[in-house]
Amino acid sequence: MTVRIAPSILSADFAHLADEIARVDDGGADWIHIDVMDGRFVPNITYGTKVIETVRRITDRPLDVHCMIVEPERHLETFAKAGASGLTIHAEAAPHLHRQLCYIKELGCAAGVALNPATPLESVRDVITDLDLLLVMSVDPGFGGQAFIPNTLDKVRRARLMLNIVGSQAALEVDGGINRDTIHAVWRAGADTFVAGNAIFSAANPRAEIGALRELCVVSV
Ligand code: DX5
Ligand code: ZN
Repeated sequence: MTVRIAPSILSADFAHLADEIARVDDGGADWIHIDVMDGRFVPNITYGTKVIETVRRITDRPLDVHCMIVEPERHLETFAKAGASGLTIHAEAAPHLHRQLCYIKELGCAAGVALNPATPLESVRDVITDLDLLLVMSVDPGFGGQAFIPNTLDKVRRARLMLNIVGSQAALEVDGGINRDTIHAVWRAGADTFVAGNAIFSAANPRAEIGALRELCVVSV
């Protein structure tokens, strides 16, 4: 059964970014999650091309780039050239979702769509077979360290059904408030890919934390 753990560098210590990434890379991270925020789609501003390029030089892991930006089409090519493996755009920021998903694939990246907690799953129904990844946000995006929104579980269940019905192999990713207390229920609801920032980077031993999160998915509780 697939379980992917994707540490979000939003919670890393940027004074020691190379060391922080090496710790999660050696610690068994499947993907590295990079949160690009523009101060417009979300209230916070983080980083963009330069950091993607830098992380690309530090690790061979796939770079899962989460674009919390308006007009994502203006930046997708730059992010792809910088080394993104997957580009996830928000449905709320992309009225021409089909066009943009095709464009992301033309750029050689996996194409993902993210949904805010208030955005219905229905908004991706008609592009469901075009997705390589569906990201269900379990917090309102913008900041690390927020509490998981419990209602998200039902959306994850419905997303799993929607993907299964069409035979999609797309990753079903959940992002926000994932930790030892929440991950099992999210996995049971049908997610296979888990973003975790605070839980992993604030742990004394990120390797042990990644291992614990992975194991908690499949144990019966
Ligand atoms: C939130 C970001 C998340 C964030 C998750 O807007 O998209 O990726 O880093 O952080 P935690 O795991 O701390 O909730
Ligand atoms: Zn994210």
